Amino acid sequence: MRACVPIRLAKRSHERAFSDMAAIKETDSFDSRFYKPADAFFPAYSSLGLTFDDVTLATLYSEILPRDTQLDTTLAEGLRLNIPVISSDMDTVTESRMAIAMALNGGLGLIHYNMPDRQQLSEVSRVKNNVHGLIQEPIKVAPEQFIGDVLAMIEDRKFSFSTFPVVDAAGTLIGLLSGHVVKPRYAKRRIAEALTPRAQVQTINRKELGKDPIARADKFFTEHPGIHKLLVVDDKDHLHGLFTMSDVERITQERNAQFKPARDSRFRLICGAAVSATRNAFGELDRERILTHVGGLADRGVDVVAVSTAHGHSKGVGDTVRMLRDSFPKLPIIAGNVTTAEGVEFLASCGADAIKVGQGPGSICTTRIVAGVGIPQLTALYVCSRAGGKRKFTLLADGGITKSGDIVKALTLTNAVICGGLLAGCTEAPGETMEISGKLYKSYRGMGSLAAMKSGSAARYGHSSNATQKVAPEGVEALKEVSGSVDRVLAQLIGGIQSGMGYLGASNLAQLREKARYIRVSPAGHREAAPHDVVELKTAH
Ligand code: XMP
Repeated sequence: MRACVPIRLAKRSHERAFSDMAAIKETDSFDSRFYKPADAFFPAYSSLGLTFDDVTLATLYSEILPRDTQLDTTLAEGLRLNIPVISSDMDTVTESRMAIAMALNGGLGLIHYNMPDRQQLSEVSRVKNNVHGLIQEPIKVAPEQFIGDVLAMIEDRKFSFSTFPVVDAAGTLIGLLSGHVVKPRYAKRRIAEALTPRAQVQTINRKELGKDPIARADKFFTEHPGIHKLLVVDDKDHLHGLFTMSDVERITQERNAQFKPARDSRFRLICGAAVSATRNAFGELDRERILTHVGGLADRGVDVVAVSTAHGHSKGVGDTVRMLRDSFPKLPIIAGNVTTAEGVEFLASCGADAIKVGQGPGSICTTRIVAGVGIPQLTALYVCSRAGGKRKFTLLADGGITKSGDIVKALTLTNAVICGGLLAGCTEAPGETMEISGKLYKSYRGMGSLAAMKSGSAARYGHSSNATQKVAPEGVEALKEVSGSVDRVLAQLIGGIQSGMGYLGASNLAQLREKARYIRVSPAGHREAAPHDVVELKTAH
């Protein structure tokens, strides 16, 4: 039967570069009548909006074990993640704690903007200061300052540490202010009276650090029990850096992990921040405010800014992206949201590096109900993935992801996914845990919900924040069951993505995009996919 159906291979032979070629040759022509590559599958449903559960992926011959798959993804020049997962810029999902946890797992957190600009700057600083290898520019104090000044600085800049090198006006090391004396009871004392003097402070000359400074510092801490700080100086005793033992230990352990933390070129965790296309009292784009704020974020070391709005294919968003691109030529920019190829081309031409795709798929979204617009997510991802244009861009699938299988499907068409609801129940998400009828929950709300818009996100939906009473909310306020730590949730998601890649014989994300074959699922097929005809004792998640 197979031999009599000479159907042309869906994929041209020069595109088939993998070791599975021989194995699938025989059946490929028959299989391809059912399981189609994206460019054959989606156009066949051009008048039907499809989402994750409407399709399933066909398996392919594989020599790839899930554990051997690589998940790294480059979203812009200088913005590389080790796992393709981003936490959403929502006020019940991402602040510094979530961003730190995401980056430590190899992903990225986008800090939301429903807070004063100053606070968002501190949140970014917290992430960038979190784990240090060699802290090249340690925060220093001067001998004539009071301990009370140091306490105020810690509070103001949200530092999670309280030991500081003490230097004079020329930058020469004169001691170490230990966290043991940075206490309110000593607030009125000068640092000069309380510091550990230079002769008792452990230092290393920067010439002795060699090629692997972390290994050198690790050796030092092993050889000096009880010492937790090592200062780096030059021949003139000018301070050039600081190692802390806990950071060095963490980094040494990370070297053995499969998915390493996502770090910048200075070994700091990466962090993103959302900005809105805010308008001034005259209804014009508030250029000065936006530029000043993004300048502050860049000074703090932010790795990417996301111009986050409900309608990215609009003049205000385009103008904002263009203005940021002109003023910060090297800063990676994410922009969105769109669901059309034209929208992608527009944002890319304005200077966006990564474009968020998704209008209305989110678990807390009501845009489709309220405004009657938006596209089922998988169709939107396909359409956007085929956008043209001169400028290179990457795509982020934003919203509607409820399980790891959805991520696998999304990654067949995009470079990374953005998750809100999946992470909102984690310990690291902002907000308190509450108990209702013996179960633990955290609150999760749409940025277009009335409460969130009152807290500042109205601009995202094109409304002014003092008129929120008059507008129709496009999101709901909800609860998520507490789901444990980000480490645990991401481990499950990553395991699922790796399984999916193993089934498709894809060792990296580029191969996943190339190899994916889709088929539509009937309602009965959809029921068949979940546990059925059993009494479930334990849920899968
Ligand atoms: P999930 O499905 O991960 O979706 O919970 C998170 C994404 O939803 C978007 N978002 C909204 N969309 N009304 C909307 O229509 C809202 O109030 C709203 N709040 C967030 C956003 O793209 C997020 O990443």
